[in-house]
Amino acid sequence: MKTGKLWELIKEMTLEEKASLCSGADFWRTKSVGRLGIPALAVSDGPHGLRKQENAADHLGMNESIKAVCFPAGCAVAASFSRDTARLLGETLGKECQAEAIGVVLGPAMNIKRSPLCGRNFEYYSEDPYVSSEMAAAYVEGVQGQNVGTSPKHFMANNQEYRRMTSSSVMDERTMREIYLASFEGMVKKTKPWTIMNSYNRINGTYLCESREMLTDILRDEWGFDGFVVTDWGAMNDRVSALKAGCDLEMPSSGGITDAEIVEAVKAGSISEEVLDETVYRILRITYRCMANRKEGAVLDLEADHEVARRIEEESIVLLKNEDGILPLKKGKKTAFIGKYAKNPRYQGGGSSHINSFRVESAWEMAEDKENMIYAQGYDDAEDVTDEELLKEAVKAAQDAEVAVIFAGLPDSFESEGYDRKHLRMPDCQNRLIKEVAAVQPNVIVVLHNGAPVEMPWINKVKAVLEVYLGGQAVGGATVDILYGKTNPSGRLPETFPIRLEDTPCYLYYGGENDVSEYREGIFVGYRYYTSKNMKTLFPFGYGLSYTSFRYSGLNLEKKAVKESEILNVSVEVTNTGMAAGKEVVQLYVSPKGGKVIRPVRELRAFDKIELMPGEKKTVRFALDSRAFSYWNSKNHDWHVETGDYEIQVGKNASEMLLAEIVHVESEKEIPREYTLNSTVGDILSDPKGKAVMEQAMGGMMSSPEAAQMAEQAAAGGVMNTEMLAAMMEGMPLRQILSFIPGVKKEDLLGLITFLNEK
Ligand code: BGC
Repeated sequence: MKTGKLWELIKEMTLEEKASLCSGADFWRTKSVGRLGIPALAVSDGPHGLRKQENAADHLGMNESIKAVCFPAGCAVAASFSRDTARLLGETLGKECQAEAIGVVLGPAMNIKRSPLCGRNFEYYSEDPYVSSEMAAAYVEGVQGQNVGTSPKHFMANNQEYRRMTSSSVMDERTMREIYLASFEGMVKKTKPWTIMNSYNRINGTYLCESREMLTDILRDEWGFDGFVVTDWGAMNDRVSALKAGCDLEMPSSGGITDAEIVEAVKAGSISEEVLDETVYRILRITYRCMANRKEGAVLDLEADHEVARRIEEESIVLLKNEDGILPLKKGKKTAFIGKYAKNPRYQGGGSSHINSFRVESAWEMAEDKENMIYAQGYDDAEDVTDEELLKEAVKAAQDAEVAVIFAGLPDSFESEGYDRKHLRMPDCQNRLIKEVAAVQPNVIVVLHNGAPVEMPWINKVKAVLEVYLGGQAVGGATVDILYGKTNPSGRLPETFPIRLEDTPCYLYYGGENDVSEYREGIFVGYRYYTSKNMKTLFPFGYGLSYTSFRYSGLNLEKKAVKESEILNVSVEVTNTGMAAGKEVVQLYVSPKGGKVIRPVRELRAFDKIELMPGEKKTVRFALDSRAFSYWNSKNHDWHVETGDYEIQVGKNASEMLLAEIVHVESEKEIPREYTLNSTVGDILSDPKGKAVMEQAMGGMMSSPEAAQMAEQAAAGGVMNTEMLAAMMEGMPLRQILSFIPGVKKEDLLGLITFLNEK
């Protein structure tokens, strides 16, 4: 029996009114029902600022939205490796939503960066599901803490822009669980987002909006999601199937067409009215929650939020190279700022996340030491063509200076929602500019404005590289503070920068064919691939430098052996051994030693960002539960821990481990074994019960005079050495014993199997 005010209200509604709530009134609002006083719910993009459209509306960022603050994009926020930073962004955005009467903000965007080519990577967090899930969870907590809803997106496996509305992401169950679902799982369980947005694409052939497995079995029944599912804009396929699968709200408006389909389906009995009622309940619950929590009188403080955007970016900038301690720059030195992005930074990407910034701050504008500075534009980014005059002027400026800072990166046309990149190169005109400036000036610093990794053919010719990502409208001030040492850089790469595109794990099949995108690299995404293959990268996952140095010591595991249900407490000490205050991202990886399951060499299982004054030492503590040691067992359809040794590694990044200790973990959920005539001798010997039985039986079999004679003959004829004999035995299915070991009967083997299978 469903009771409560909402159910009373639903009872009052006609079938048509209920169906009408299942699609939008327009681009950004749900429908109201005047007769019953049911209000509409207003939503807005997200994720890194408010894109509230008051007039002509669209989902591609084409028409103007209100003046707002553009915060750093997801690529940058994730590089902060700071939950507090992601939470601060969420909180600030939540307040802005309150001021603008927005009930739900459409974000965070949290798809896995399967390939650096994905045109929308700038909005996403990471190639690692744990980082993605943790950052998203903090963002959601921030927004929802202001009593505004979120819509984490795009659920799920929407990892390419190419044919995103029709393509099917095809992958095995383990890959789905360990990588693509895991990116959402922790966030959903921890924060209970008010809504979630299903993606356009299909998963293993089924449109996400119609996937009951994803929207109901996993999202609601397993993870406890209790909000409503909204389609991405235009992601509805078959309305009635989607309703059955658990897809609640279709956005934007369907012009009433699909509402009528629902009415008809209920009348025809092809869907029960209870299913519709559940959907209406879920939509109304969130609508009324938003209404009840509206803060009348909240105001948008653009200036204050601009400062927040700057603070977030300062946490996020990654120092990739700093030879001879060229950074921080010293004031009073003749410095050339070169490149269009010094005055007109590229600070956000194109598409539905595009913000109408009320102000944009450039590095040139924010730099204080202007009497010692010169500017040269160097290139234009409208087209990838070298302007020889601009180039000449830039080289001259570099020659006249003691140090040259080149502001480079990807132009808008190189990365955007809607299409993928074809290569990882920066514009040729910019690469040429960097090379020519570096030929006349030994002190070159490159500041990169991009949403995803680029190749750096000039890396050995420049002294320093600063990755500022798409840093939001306050990127200029944040960059200047880092360049001149007012802020110590503390960002770390949430993704690997490969040396070249051909090195990336899904290079051969990214994008797919005929609307099928096979995820053949499986779980080996990002650093899981590069580290397992011991490959060189341009910069590894987790990488980033500081103006100070840190020493790690005293890695301590509370226990040397744990059962899988126990928590393993780990601590490590970190000391700031340099002269500047700084922040360090302490990264903990788990590396299985042995075991029968194919696994990455290591996986990030915990991280923390800490601040240390010069000379200060802090103890960082982590608590690892069984998930830190688990893999997804596709036979059992569950997480499983293999009994064995695991190395707890603490490192600077995915490729540089500093300290390691072994823990033995004992599984409490061994996978039951099922023996058949095709089980091998080796399989049986690896089971203690099987070993005892087998040794006894084999001893008997092998000691028959015929068997002994066969073994002797094989050894004497040089046909087999001992290793070969052992390997043959190990790999031999039981059924073969009948042909190779005289005297053994099939009944004996079947009896053995029955005995082994007895619980
Ligand atoms: C995007 C979503 C966005 C929606 C509304 C879609 O094209 O994929 O991320 O929230 O439009 O603008």
